[in-house]
Amino acid sequence: MAAAGMGSAGTLGPLLLHLFLCFLILVSPSIGSTNSGDASAMTAIALSINPLPSRWSTVPNPDPCGGGWNGVTCVSGRVTVIALQGASLAGRLAPEIANLSSLQTLALQNNQLGGDLPSLAGLANLRELYLGQNGFRSIPTGFFSGLTSLINVSLDHNPLALWVLPGDLAKCSNLVRFTAMNCSLGGAIPDFFDGLLTLQYLRLSYNYMVGPLPPSMGNSSIRELYLNNELRIGNSGPEQLSGTLDVLSSMTQLSVVWVQSNNFSGAVPDLSGCTSLVDLQLRDNQLTGVLPQLLASLPNLRTLNVSNNLLQGPFPSLGPNVVVGATPGNSFCNSQPGPCDQRVTDLLKVAEGFGYPESLARAWRGNNPCNGWLHVSCDSQGNITFLNFGSQNLGGSISDSIASFTALKVLKLENNILTGSVPPSLATLPQLQVIDVSNNNLTGDVPAFRPNVKVITEGNPLLGSQSGGGGSGSASSTGSPSSPNGGGQSKGLRSKAVIYAVSITISVLVVVAGLVYLWYKKHKNRPKGSLAGNGHSAGKFYHGQSNGGHGKAHVVETESTFVPMQELQRATNNFSEENILGRGGFGVVYKGEKPDGTFIAVKRMEWSEMGKQGMSEFKAEIEVLKKVKHRHLVALLGYCEHRNEKLLVYEYMPQGTLSQHLFRSRESAYPPLTWNQRLSIALDVARGLEYLHSLAQTSFIHRDLKPSNILLDNDLRAKVSDFGLVKLAPDDKNSLQTRLAGTFGYLAPEYASTGKVTTKVDVYAFGVVLMELITGRKALDDSLPDESLHLVSWLRRTLINREDIRNVVDANLDLDEEDIICISKVAELANHCTSHVPQQRPDMGHAVNVLVTLVGQWKPSSSNEEDDYNVSHQESFPQWNFDDGLSFNNQYQSMDRSHRSGTSAKPDMLSVGR
Ligand SMILES: *[C@@H]1O[C@H](CO)[C@@H](O)[C@H](O)[C@H]1NC(C)=O
Ligand SMILES: *[C@@H]1O[C@H](CO)[C@@H](O)[C@H](O)[C@H]1NC(C)=O
Ligand SMILES: *[C@@H]1O[C@H](CO)[C@@H](O)[C@H](O)[C@H]1NC(C)=O
Ligand SMILES: *[C@@H]1O[C@H](CO)[C@@H](O)[C@H](O)[C@H]1NC(C)=O
Ligand SMILES: *[C@@H]1O[C@H](CO)[C@@H](O)[C@H](O)[C@H]1NC(C)=O
Ligand SMILES: *[C@@H]1O[C@H](CO)[C@@H](O)[C@H](O)[C@H]1NC(C)=O
Ligand SMILES: *[C@@H]1O[C@H](CO)[C@@H](O)[C@H](O)[C@H]1NC(C)=O
Repeated sequence: MAAAGMGSAGTLGPLLLHLFLCFLILVSPSIGSTNSGDASAMTAIALSINPLPSRWSTVPNPDPCGGGWNGVTCVSGRVTVIALQGASLAGRLAPEIANLSSLQTLALQNNQLGGDLPSLAGLANLRELYLGQNGFRSIPTGFFSGLTSLINVSLDHNPLALWVLPGDLAKCSNLVRFTAMNCSLGGAIPDFFDGLLTLQYLRLSYNYMVGPLPPSMGNSSIRELYLNNELRIGNSGPEQLSGTLDVLSSMTQLSVVWVQSNNFSGAVPDLSGCTSLVDLQLRDNQLTGVLPQLLASLPNLRTLNVSNNLLQGPFPSLGPNVVVGATPGNSFCNSQPGPCDQRVTDLLKVAEGFGYPESLARAWRGNNPCNGWLHVSCDSQGNITFLNFGSQNLGGSISDSIASFTALKVLKLENNILTGSVPPSLATLPQLQVIDVSNNNLTGDVPAFRPNVKVITEGNPLLGSQSGGGGSGSASSTGSPSSPNGGGQSKGLRSKAVIYAVSITISVLVVVAGLVYLWYKKHKNRPKGSLAGNGHSAGKFYHGQSNGGHGKAHVVETESTFVPMQELQRATNNFSEENILGRGGFGVVYKGEKPDGTFIAVKRMEWSEMGKQGMSEFKAEIEVLKKVKHRHLVALLGYCEHRNEKLLVYEYMPQGTLSQHLFRSRESAYPPLTWNQRLSIALDVARGLEYLHSLAQTSFIHRDLKPSNILLDNDLRAKVSDFGLVKLAPDDKNSLQTRLAGTFGYLAPEYASTGKVTTKVDVYAFGVVLMELITGRKALDDSLPDESLHLVSWLRRTLINREDIRNVVDANLDLDEEDIICISKVAELANHCTSHVPQQRPDMGHAVNVLVTLVGQWKPSSSNEEDDYNVSHQESFPQWNFDDGLSFNNQYQSMDRSHRSGTSAKPDMLSVGR
C-alpha cells in the first residue's frame, strides 16, 4: 500500500513541476529574466567574497543574468556557469551555491578563498568543478552526493583537514578527470572503479593515502595515473601506498604512470600490453625482482625511472629513445646493461618463485653469488653447494631452476609457507645429499630422489607420500640378500638384513685388509713413481675377491683414501716431537709433509683400545666424515688403521688455531687479530656449523667447539675441525669426559647437567667463542677472581648496561665508533646464543644472517672477500698420491649404507645419508 502511494506521488510530482515551470516561463515579463532563487543565492555568494568581481552587485534584488556579471553565464534565467579563476578573490564560498540547481561549471581555482567548503549536494547538472589552489579548510562529508553529471573535478592544493574519498564518488559515473593532489586526502583508494568506467585521468599525489591499488582499478579506463609522493603522517602505522603494482598490467590504455616515492613492493608487472605507455615513474619504492624484458618492446615509452628500488638482474637497456633513470639504489648485477652471471640468473629465478622477497633483494647484490650472498654457499670453484632458505617465512613456490646448480649438496626450505609441488627436476641433482622441505604447504608427489639423498618432507599435509623415494632404493642398493624391493618390510627383517650386511662387510674387510697388507709388503720396495695406477689395480683386485667371495659385487666408487702407516711415519718423521702441532681431546696432531712437498696434519688418536667400535664402524664413520665437505670445515683427506691405532689425515692449516692467535702469550709469534679479522672468523665458523647442523636434522652436532678447534689458513679464514670425533671415541662407560665430550667453559648448561645433546649445544659454544673474540679472554680463566672467572656469566652480567661495552673489549683492538656499534651487535648475538634456555638460543642460520650484515658493512673497504674464498680448498679433495704409497678408490659402499641404516635409530648418529 505504502509503496503504491509513493509510486503515484512519484509520477505526479515531476508532471506538476513541469506544468509549473511552463507557467512561470509563459508569465514572466521577458525571456531571460532571472530565476529569483538563483538571484538570491548569487547575492549570498557575492556578499561572502571580496573584492566584488566587476559588475557584480549586492544591492537588494540584483539580476546576475541581466547585468553582465563578470564570469557568470545564464541560460533561460538560470545561472549555469560561474568562472572566476585567478581573480584574487578572498572570503568564503557561501552555502547558497547549492541552490543554483542549473549550475554546470564552477571554476574558482587559483584564488585565496578560505573557510569550509559547503556541500554541493544536489547540483545534478554540475559538470565541471575547479576549486584548486585556494585556502579551503575542510570538505564536508556528502560533498559529492548527487553530483551525477560531474566530468572534471579539481581540488588540488588546498589545506583541507584530513578527509577520505567518499563512496558517493562511485555514483559520479561520468567522471573523466579527477584530481585531488596535495589536499590532505587520507585513507585507501576505494575499490570503486567498477562505477567509474569513463575515468581517464586520476591524480592523487602528495596526500596521505595508504594501502594497495584496488583490484577494480584494473578494469578502469585510466590513461594517466598520478599517485606519487604519498606523505607519511607521523612515524607509526601503515604508511604510503603499498602492495604490488600488478593491477597495472591489465590497464592497457595507460600512457602516464607516476607512482614514485611510495612503498610499493614486489616485482615490476608485465606491462607488455600497455602499448600506449609513454612515461613510467617507479623510483623510490621497494620494488624487487628483474625488470621484465618486454619493457624494451613498448613502442611509445620515452621515460622510465626505476632508481632507488631493490631491483635485481640485468641493468635496464631500453633503446635510444628512452631516458632511463636506474641509479642510484637497486641491486642490479652490473652497473651497465649486459647479462648477469648464469648463477645469478638462476638464483633470481629461485627468488622469483618466492615472489622476490625484499630480504633477498637487499642481500643479493652484485654478480657473484659466492661473495657473501645470504643463504648461499659455494665451493672453491664457485659452484653453489648449499642453499639454506629454512625458516625465512617464504611464500610462493620452489623454482625448478634450482636443478641447474649441479654441485648442490644441501637444499633447505623447511619452515616456510611454500605451496605448489617439489619440482621433479630436483631429483636429477647428482650431488644432492639433503633436501628438507618440511613444514610447508606443498602439494603433489615427492620426486624419486636417489636412494642416498636424505629427503625430509614431514609437515606438508597435502604432499604425496614419499614411499617410492629413499627407503626402498636404499635397501635394494645395499645388495643385502634378504632385502626385498620395497620399503614395506618389517623392522625385524630390516635389522636382520643390516646385521647380515654388517657381518659380511666386516669379514670381507678383514680378508681384504689382510690381502692388501700382504700385497703392500710385497710391493714395498718397488722404485718410486712406478705405482701410478695402483689404486686402480687394487680396486680391481678387490673387486675380484668380492665377486668370488659372495657372488655379488657391491663395488661402488667413492673417494675413500686409506693411507698406509709407513707413509704417515715417513711424512711425520716417525711422529717426532718436533712435528707436534698440538694435543687435543682426541689425540696428538702432527705436521707431515708429503713427497710432493705439500703439508698435511695427522691426528693420532689417543686411545689404543678399540672400545666397542670395531674397525668397520670406524671406517664407516670415516666414510661419513669424508663426505662432510665445506669451505669452513677442515677437510679429512684420509685415514689409517695400524694394529690398534687409528689415524686421521687432514688438510694442513698453516696459521694454527684461533686460540693461538687470540690468547697470546708474551712470546706469541702472531700479531693481534683486528676486529674485522675476528668478525670474518666468526662468520666462517657460523657458516661451518650451519652446514654441519643442516646435514641431518639435529644430529650432526660438533659438541666441542672452542678456539683450539678453529683453524686458520694463510688468509686468516677459519675452518672448524674435529667435528664428528665424538663418535669415534671409545664408548667408555666410566668416562664422563668422553660421553660428555665437551670442554668446561663452553658447555651449555643443559648439556652439562643432563647430557642431552641438541644443536643448541653448539650454538652455546659459538656464543662463548664470540665472547672470546670480543674480549680476548678465555672462557675460563683461573687467574681471575671468582666473580669474573667464568667469561659467560661475567660478560652477561657486565653487559646488562650496554654502555659498558668499551670496558670489556680486548685491549689489543684499535677501534673506531663504527666498530663499537658492530661489537655491540656481536655482543648481543653472543648473549642470545648463550641463553640459559636452549629454546631461546637462535639457530646457526640466524647467527650467519646477523654476521653477514655486519661483515657486509665493512666489506667495501676491505680487500677481496672473493679471493679469500678462492684460496681455500673446500671441495678440492685431493686424492692421496704418495709416490710409492697405496691408494685405492674403490670401496664397499655397502658398508657405509649398512652402517647408516643400522644406526638410524640413534638420535645423535652422524648420518649424512638416509
Ligand atoms: C536555498 O534553498 C533552500 C531550500 O531549497 C531555501 O530554504 C533557502 O532559503 C534558499 N536560500 C536562498 C538564499 O535562496
Ligand atoms: C575537462 O577537462 C579537459 C582538460 O582540461 C577539457 O579538455 C575538457 O573539455 C573538459 N571537459 C568538460 C566537459 O568540461
Ligand atoms: C601544497 O599546497 C600548499 C598550499 O595548500 C602549498 O603551499 C604547497 O607548496 C603545496 N605542495 C606541493 C608539493 O605542491
Ligand atoms: C572486471 O570486469 C569483468 C567483466 O566486466 C568482471 O567480471 C570482473 O569481476 C571485473 N574485475 C574487477 C576486479 O572488478
Ligand atoms: C611498507 O610496506 C610494508 C608492507 O608491504 C610494511 O611492512 C612497511 O612497514 C612499510 N614501510 C613504510 C615505511 O611504510
Ligand atoms: C663447477 O664449476 C666449474 C666451472 O666453474 C664447472 O666447469 C663445473 O662443471 C662445475 N661443477 C659442477 C658439479 O657443477
Ligand atoms: C594449504 O594450501 C591449501 C590449498 O592448497 C589451503 O586450502 C590451506 O589453507 C593451506 N594451508 C595453510 C596452513 O596455509
